[in-house]
Amino acid sequence: MLDLPRIIGHRGAAAEAPENTLASIRAAHAAGTRMVEFDVKLTADDEPVLLHDDRLERTTDGRGPVRERSLEEVRALDAGGWFDRRFAGERVPHLDQAIALCLELGLRVNVEIKPCPGREVRTAEVTLERLRAIWPAAAPAPLVSSFEEAALEVARDRQPDWPRGYLCEALAPDWQARLARLGCATLNLGWRRLSRSDVATLRAAGVPLLVYTVNDVDRARRLLAWGVSALFTDTVGSLIRAGLDRPAPRPAQ
Ligand code: G3P
Ligand code: MG
Repeated sequence: MLDLPRIIGHRGAAAEAPENTLASIRAAHAAGTRMVEFDVKLTADDEPVLLHDDRLERTTDGRGPVRERSLEEVRALDAGGWFDRRFAGERVPHLDQAIALCLELGLRVNVEIKPCPGREVRTAEVTLERLRAIWPAAAPAPLVSSFEEAALEVARDRQPDWPRGYLCEALAPDWQARLARLGCATLNLGWRRLSRSDVATLRAAGVPLLVYTVNDVDRARRLLAWGVSALFTDTVGSLIRAGLDRPAPRPAQ
């Protein structure tokens, strides 16, 4: 049985520091969460880095597709100044750096494999290869998730005993068959199309449900009361201050 914290920092703590940077992971930890999620994709020279978008413009001072830039080129970019001048000079982290920081801080980790189109298998292969090389046997296993089934297949085949999360915007009618085929331990869904009966269905099936990206305290409280297992949030501090990381009340009947 997975024992996950209720509050998972999204892209670190994306409302508090520039997303998917070491500063963001530190901010999530400082705000009190015990687990972070971040997105991993490949540079042109197949190095795994923390970036969400396929292009560089939104979260760095670079331009163009990530898949056309080498690690050296990506590492030269400023990944913090767009968020706030205080973070100018923050770099796009390599996966190894992010994992080292999480281990140092004692944070649980959800690695979301976020491939550029057409690079699903390669991104998963490289990510799993790196994780397997650096992950200490004594540390709680990372949760490996993706919207891409091809990536989850690689994760299943390379490291079957690490839990996998099936990411989807909404509950698909054949969710049970998909989860079973990929051996996924959790279902990670968006809140916008999630109903209370979806949550009840998953609870009855004993499948942990993780919901993204919940930044509103009232919505977070309601989802936890429905029986959601954990929430991804950009606003880690506000959810922790509201006490939502503590055991949830039993779901209302
Ligand atoms: O893993 C939860 C969430 O991060 C999925 O959506 O687009 O923010 O990566 P996205
Ligand atoms: Mg993500």
